[in-house]
Amino acid sequence: MNAFSFLIADRSCLDDILLIERYSFYPELYKSPRYYKRQISFKRLRLCVVDGEVVGYLCFQPHKQYVSISDLATKIGYRQKGVAFYLINSLLKELQNSYSKVKTIRLMVAADNDVAQSLYRKFYFIPKAVRKQYYGKHDGILMEKIVTNCSFYNRIVTKH
Ligand SMILES: CC(C)(COP(=O)(O)OP(=O)(O)OC[C@H]1O[C@@H](n2cnc3c(N)ncnc32)[C@H](O)[C@@H]1OP(=O)(O)O)[C@@H](O)C(=O)NCCC(=O)NCCS
Repeated sequence: MNAFSFLIADRSCLDDILLIERYSFYPELYKSPRYYKRQISFKRLRLCVVDGEVVGYLCFQPHKQYVSISDLATKIGYRQKGVAFYLINSLLKELQNSYSKVKTIRLMVAADNDVAQSLYRKFYFIPKAVRKQYYGKHDGILMEKIVTNCSFYNRIVTKH
């Protein structure tokens, strides 16, 4: 696969993001287009793009004490090729440059989402609490990562 690019989203990508979301989550978890438009205007939506195609997205929210990752998904057909890993790694680099005071990153993940939990463990996110029925019938796990100077990987080998 060709090189990944890490880009700030603009409105022209909204349909691509919504399509990826529709194939990635239970319908009750879909966000409204307005939600994504807001992330775009606040510049909190990042894309992984390959050959001009949006293949993954990530939203983050800065808070006073921490940054949360609120949304992350990879397009079907591009999974298990390092897209989500690249998105998180690139965000960590960006946070180090732009939000250098941020010491903690948090996210929620469904308790039965072993794939995503495995991804987060690669970045040393640690489970901190279980939130019962956080996703409707499904429990959620709060995971947290302490940011250090070497939180991201400098070299990523793109999978083929
Ligand atoms: C979870 C998700 C974002 C992973 O995206 P991806 O681009 O396929 O992930 P990557 O290729 O970057 O894989 C990185 C790591 O994730 C884990 N992983 C990814 N796919 C996996 C699978 N099918 N089985 C087990 N682990 C998997 C592995 O730890 C992997 O590292 P490795 O390749 O060294 O084993 C993707 O499966 C997805 O969009 N799922 C639906 C939406 C979702 O669950 N989002 C997370 C919400 S919290």
